[in-house]
Amino acid sequence: RKTAPMPEDIRAMKGGTPIVSLTAYTTPMAQMMDGHCDFVLVGDSVGMVLHGLPSTLGVTMEMMILHGKAVARGLTRAMMVVDMPFGSYEESPQQAFANAALLMAETGAGAVKLEGGRHMAETIAFLVARGVPVMAHIGLTPQSINTLGGYKVQGRGDAAEALMADARAVCDAGAFSVVLEKVPAALADQITAEIAIPTIGIGASAACDGQILVVDDMLGLFTAFKPKFVKRYAALGSDGEAAIESYAEDVRTRAFPGPEHVFADKVPS
Ligand code: KIV
Ligand code: NA
Repeated sequence: RKTAPMPEDIRAMKGGTPIVSLTAYTTPMAQMMDGHCDFVLVGDSVGMVLHGLPSTLGVTMEMMILHGKAVARGLTRAMMVVDMPFGSYEESPQQAFANAALLMAETGAGAVKLEGGRHMAETIAFLVARGVPVMAHIGLTPQSINTLGGYKVQGRGDAAEALMADARAVCDAGAFSVVLEKVPAALADQITAEIAIPTIGIGASAACDGQILVVDDMLGLFTAFKPKFVKRYAALGSDGEAAIESYAEDVRTRAFPGPEHVFADKVPS
């Protein structure tokens, strides 16, 4: 593909070749994935992954704009979606529109993502009617960690019906796709089969219309904890620490810098 897909192109991938996506927070990471991902999410996971925050609750509009601008500079072929941070959209559709418009105008994002099912349907419809493509996010919604009572699997047993209703609601409200986080595989399969928009799984099912992972998790850069749904494709964290250990040893033994790293010149007599 030569140009970035639009949200409607992502919607049209329903039921086809799985949609590939990762999070990114910086220009070089965005450049690494630009040729391989259909869309890149500037996730509010940036707070935990890059800023050392204990949850996503402390992430601000300012942080999302700064990282969104950085990611945009690294993308030419993948679409960019930016997360709406906690507190920037829940109060009213009007508040959500003002902040979504700011995120799109400042970063050039083609769409925003927000957390919530039935209770956010009115807001999603309000945004879509005013030119803001919305990716929804249901199941485990980390911004609600304090009311959910932990990062546990959502939609088990009797809660399955409610999650199915959330999926239908965000689809009917006009979302162009929906992230399903940490839900039983059979329920993810059922939602994927039933709703008309692509499901993007994270801890969901291989049958989802697409998959997403936090890039620092799959590269082994974020190692504070590893959710079951993360597959590590590299160990950049431990590789990086080993490299730093070698550097420290080289400096202390004067093995670095070597002759090839320094500049020759005449010494004044
Ligand atoms: O912030 C994030 O990284 C996300 C993805 C895990 C879907 O919302
Ligand atoms: Na997020």
